[in-house]
Amino acid sequence: MSSTTEEIKSKLDIVDLISEYVKLSQAGKNWKGLCPFHNEKTPSFFISQERQYWHCFGCGEGGDIFTFIMKIEGLDFYQTLKLLAKKAGIELKPQNIQTTNLKNKLLDINELSKKFFHYLLQNSPRAENARRYLKQRNLDKKTIENFKLGYAPNSWDKLLNFLKLKGYNFEDIFKAGVIVKKDNRYYDRFRNRLVFPINNLHGQTVGFSARALDEQSGAKYINSPQTEIYNKSEILYGLDKAKNSARKKNEIILVEGQMDMVSSHQAGVDNVVATSGTALTEGQIKILKRYADNLLLAFDSDQAGEKAAKRGAEIGLSLGISVKVIKLLKGQDPDDCIRKNPNDWKKAIRKAEPFLEFYMEQAFMKFDLTNVEGKKSILNFMKILAVLPSKIEQDYYIKKLAQILHSDEECLREDLDSMKEKKSNVVEKDETTALLKKDGSLKLAEQIIALLLRYPKNMNCFKGNLNENIFIAPNLIEIYKKFFDFYKNQKIVQDSKKFINSLKERNEQLFYFCEELLLLAEKDFLDFDEEEIKKYIVEYLK
Ligand code: UTP
Ligand code: MN
Repeated sequence: MSSTTEEIKSKLDIVDLISEYVKLSQAGKNWKGLCPFHNEKTPSFFISQERQYWHCFGCGEGGDIFTFIMKIEGLDFYQTLKLLAKKAGIELKPQNIQTTNLKNKLLDINELSKKFFHYLLQNSPRAENARRYLKQRNLDKKTIENFKLGYAPNSWDKLLNFLKLKGYNFEDIFKAGVIVKKDNRYYDRFRNRLVFPINNLHGQTVGFSARALDEQSGAKYINSPQTEIYNKSEILYGLDKAKNSARKKNEIILVEGQMDMVSSHQAGVDNVVATSGTALTEGQIKILKRYADNLLLAFDSDQAGEKAAKRGAEIGLSLGISVKVIKLLKGQDPDDCIRKNPNDWKKAIRKAEPFLEFYMEQAFMKFDLTNVEGKKSILNFMKILAVLPSKIEQDYYIKKLAQILHSDEECLREDLDSMKEKKSNVVEKDETTALLKKDGSLKLAEQIIALLLRYPKNMNCFKGNLNENIFIAPNLIEIYKKFFDFYKNQKIVQDSKKFINSLKERNEQLFYFCEELLLLAEKDFLDFDEEEIKKYIVEYLK
């Protein structure tokens, strides 16, 4: 935290501030009230005066006075800083830029870049081609405004110079992801492109995805890299805009591209988020689960799209989410469909099919129903049924499968069970979840490995004659061993990114699990300081 935000926090009390918006009553050491961010009849919104922290157990939102005001007033970080500084009677000076901590600085740089791109798109004569392109793609003024779309000029340094003028140095601008470094020179990452700002859950801009305006200008999309503020395994494009509607409808639609998402909003279907070309993670689906129990997938009908849909469905189903598939004409994506006729999109959503029905149809088309080999392949294809937490649902599909294959139900069940032996990652995690409910110590073990990955500086606490079995689950033990193997010649590690990335090639499932653990560390230890974290680890290892 920067000294300014700290100073503001020391002058304002969270309970006083929030009681301007929410009726609070005392609950032991804490305060509680009805959550202003979702509909509820009994209070699950809590404030810890001691920690100056709020959290809602209903919708999972939480934070400090800054996040509260940003959310409830719909302001960005800077506007909130101004508002709270005024309330606290503190004057904001330009040199505050230097003292704002790194994350806030990176957020500010992305926010300013967004404004820069957006201003150019709306005002610059040079953005004529971008405006023409948007017209071609049927995106109207309201949508451009709503999503703060922008234009990155055809230049190597316009954005860079603008940000320098605002007082930021090369290094921070580079860390914010908007410029590239090559041979010790810096230049703008996005040039002559239509820019989509990517926001986190709170609506703060953390990166960009930029589309070429014609098919000759290199990669179709260029994206911000992973940064301190942009964790790609966690963020879904548009969730900040879709979450309220998703919660109301208890349904969320997942599409592949930002164009699909933006068009859908324009067509009036606003509970939509996009994966933006990255592999779906369990962390992302868990975040979606906070908002809705029903997940609708609208993925391209090419191989990559099918693979992504299967991955999303498998994770969703294993978490007990109901998953459906939106079927579009062959070769069409949601944006194509909407451009032809928005009503077709709405119709397709209404007619979405349960994923497992759809998947079973695929199995029947792929393999021969009439011979034993075909039947075995179909069952193998359908082993996704093993992840279903609901036995009633599993029973329903096994019965159906048995009928069509003219096979004995019990045999199918047994075969499916034996396939579990060679279980997929998701099944493994599903069982971990079951274990977790029985035994809180597994959760503790996960937290400790999460902390090792998130704050590897504490790795020395782990040294000595540790029996690795204290980490309980095989995947946690494996991460622990691999981590120390990877860094065996290093005394201290500041950042475990290298290690985690090294898993990507060798063991993708473990890689995703690490990403998920990082999320866990962020969530569970948000308001711990370094000393507290260290104590927590030492306590566990005792
Ligand atoms: P698609 O290739 O399906 O593009 O990529 P699209 O969404 O239909 O885009 P338009 O309609 O041609 O403009 C889906 C998503 O994958 C990511 C982008 O986020 C895109 O929205 N992607 C695609 C990249 O990151 N890089 C690329 O070169 C292509
Ligand atoms: Mn498209």
